[in-house]
Amino acid sequence: MKKLLKILMFIVLALVIVIGITAAVINAQDLPTYEVEKIEYTASADSAGLARGKKFVTLLCAGCHLNTETGTLSGKRMEDAPEFGDLYAQNITNDKEFGIGDWTDGEILYLLRTGVLPNGRYAPPYMAKLPHMSDEDLNNIIAFLRSDDELVKATNTADQPCEPSFLTKALCRVAFKPLPFPNQPIKTPAAGDKLALGKYLTINLDCWTCHSPSFEKLNVMEPEKTPGFLSGGNQSLYDKDRNQVVSLNITPDKETGIGNWTEEQFIKATKYGILPEGHTLQFPMEPYTELTDEEAAAIFTYLKTVPAISNKVERVIYD
Ligand code: HEC
Ligand code: HEC
Repeated sequence: MKKLLKILMFIVLALVIVIGITAAVINAQDLPTYEVEKIEYTASADSAGLARGKKFVTLLCAGCHLNTETGTLSGKRMEDAPEFGDLYAQNITNDKEFGIGDWTDGEILYLLRTGVLPNGRYAPPYMAKLPHMSDEDLNNIIAFLRSDDELVKATNTADQPCEPSFLTKALCRVAFKPLPFPNQPIKTPAAGDKLALGKYLTINLDCWTCHSPSFEKLNVMEPEKTPGFLSGGNQSLYDKDRNQVVSLNITPDKETGIGNWTEEQFIKATKYGILPEGHTLQFPMEPYTELTDEEAAAIFTYLKTVPAISNKVERVIYD
């Protein structure tokens, strides 16, 4: 008996040592690297395309990369997800030394599709990826980043490197992997196809990530297969100054979702954060003032078609 106990003790000890060593090794290493596919490609867009690129960059990138002191996308410290490390959205202005002025358009494209940087290092999920954006809109975004717009004017602010936490490093070894580079064209919805436009915006503007119950269960490549798609209750949105505001159910369920809302009410809530009963929507639900009424209405049209899920989420009000 004693001998058996000794053997067991030995096994447990050995396991603890192995786990300890693995953890130490992961922690000492940088994030994993991957092979980079070289993409021959040059972005170009007319003024309408550049305007569309700017709109997406304002909606999707500025939240992290805009530095209010320089007024450009010269980057800043990210404070709302400390569990992932000490993070800095980098300088993505046209500065050749400090920004991405020396990147090729193909390198930017590859990063935005897959999450892999030109040096092969994987950029963890705290840096946005755009697997569902149409080729045309991604081209508009990259052309805009390359333009002479004030937002991307070369700014000589040096980057501070990110220091990802052990959690981030461990997750990047097991759970978070680069996304596949698309092997067929991704098209922009045809003009006038309201439902397709609404789906396109709901997916690409990331409404579905916050509004589905948990970030861990997102089906990144097939968003509509995410458990509880758009039914709210995501509590992992950390608000440093206050507390936890929970995302709400925006499926067409009449009792717990937005099944009884009018299109007008929805547009007001999405664009200006104003609710039918007079509350104002709180961080992290930012008003989408960049959207036209037609675009917000298209999102509403799409939301009316997704499966209604009964999921009562208590609204948290701090005001
Ligand atoms: C949630 C915050 C966040 C959003 C949104 C975001 N980024 Fe980033 N971005 C980061 C962080 C953090 C890094 C640094 C990642 C790293 O080095 O691991 C980064 C890195 C980059 C880099 C690499 C820069 C370099 O010098 O290494 C580029 C290019 C970039 N982002 C472009 C974009 C574009 C374009 C968008 C919008 C489509 C965007 N980012 C949206 C946080 C964000
Ligand atoms: C960063 C996370 C996040 C993103 C992205 C996001 N939302 Fe929200 N949304 C929230 C949170 C959190 C609330 C609840 C805010 C509150 O209670 O004050 C909310 C509330 C709402 C409401 C109000 C629902 C109600 O019952 O009062 C609507 C409508 C809405 N969001 C639509 C959208 C649409 C459309 C998009 C995409 C264009 C979107 N949201 C993107 C987090 C997000």
